Amino acid sequence: MSNRLSPTKLSAVRSSRSKSILIAGGAGFVGSHLADRLIEQGHTVTVLDDFTTGRADNVAHLVGRRRFRLVRGDVIDPIEFEVDQIYNLACPASPPHYQLDPIRTFKTSVLGALNTLDLAERSGARILLASTSEIYGDPEVHPQPETYWGHVNAFGPRSCYDEGKRSAETLFHDYHERRNVDIRVARIFNTYGPRMRPDDGRVVSNFVVQALKGEDITIYGDGSQTRSFCYVDDLVDGLMRLMNTADLHTPVNIGNTGEFTIAELAETVVDLVGTRSRVVYRDLPVDDPRQRRPDISKAQRELGWSPRISLRDGLVPTIAYFDQLLQRMPAEMAS
Ligand SMILES: NC(=O)c1ccc[n+]([C@@H]2O[C@H](COP(=O)([O-])OP(=O)(O)OC[C@H]3O[C@@H](n4cnc5c(N)ncnc54)[C@H](O)[C@@H]3O)[C@@H](O)[C@H]2O)c1
Repeated sequence: MSNRLSPTKLSAVRSSRSKSILIAGGAGFVGSHLADRLIEQGHTVTVLDDFTTGRADNVAHLVGRRRFRLVRGDVIDPIEFEVDQIYNLACPASPPHYQLDPIRTFKTSVLGALNTLDLAERSGARILLASTSEIYGDPEVHPQPETYWGHVNAFGPRSCYDEGKRSAETLFHDYHERRNVDIRVARIFNTYGPRMRPDDGRVVSNFVVQALKGEDITIYGDGSQTRSFCYVDDLVDGLMRLMNTADLHTPVNIGNTGEFTIAELAETVVDLVGTRSRVVYRDLPVDDPRQRRPDISKAQRELGWSPRISLRDGLVPTIAYFDQLLQRMPAEMAS
């Protein structure tokens, strides 16, 4: 791994067979699975990551491969690179992480969008933004189609993330309209799978880790709030299809339409882990949405994409991953 450079200066060999692809935030949960798939397809992949929430472990198996490079860098700084495609995934995604330093989260979203868009413009690359269902806020329309403008609080603890991503979308829109940059915008709904962090505070990792440790499973609120859960392989497939579909410059929802209450998720995890954990209830955090489910008809129509992995099927490898991780981790880190 090289040291952090400012501005980040990189170079890549382009070839007709393989594309040179930058994944900003590629050492994170989603980015590392994307890197695996792109390398499998014979592309040259550079992961640029500042390791705030990502881990070198997630891509350690790729280090040393001829077509893979890992660079420590920050999307808040300008990036110099020759590249055919850019996936901009750089941003902490879980509330405890993005709320740790909300100003930095906002900068990462907005300046990260600017710097990756500038890079795309300079190098003539196609660029995809990992946006989020959070741009719909606490929605008043169910399920949420891309045409819904959202119900978002600009002045609260989640705003750095929600408004940061909304601003990033605006920049993507304007770089396309005014500078003809070839953009793609994926609005990603809750995704889970191996390589999530045990401490990231997201509901699937929380429940699985608590169940594996035999601890109480904590539900915030009464458990009747609903979420949809997309397995990471399905998401990566959707992102790659979106990137490689011609002339699709408007946002596309990517998520699983199966809607589960949080209480149902807890029951499924308890059942699959076979734990004796009890379910306990705590106060709902501020601005926590009641219900969230994507309308994915656009992805089905334009990308021929639908999720294929059921919640139970996706939970099995996820539980196996956390089980192994907890066995390897020192007790104080796993707690
Ligand atoms: N996982 C989900 O359910 C979900 C849902 C909606 C949107 N998304 C979006 O998808 C992307 C990936 O999410 P994830 O779940 O893999 O999260 P993650 O936190 O595991 O990955 C984010 C990666 O970005 C890196 N990063 C953060 N700030 C950076 C900076 N300033 N410069 C360079 N790298 C930086 C982190 O170190 C990490 O590797 C994020 O942009 C997130 O907003 C994810």
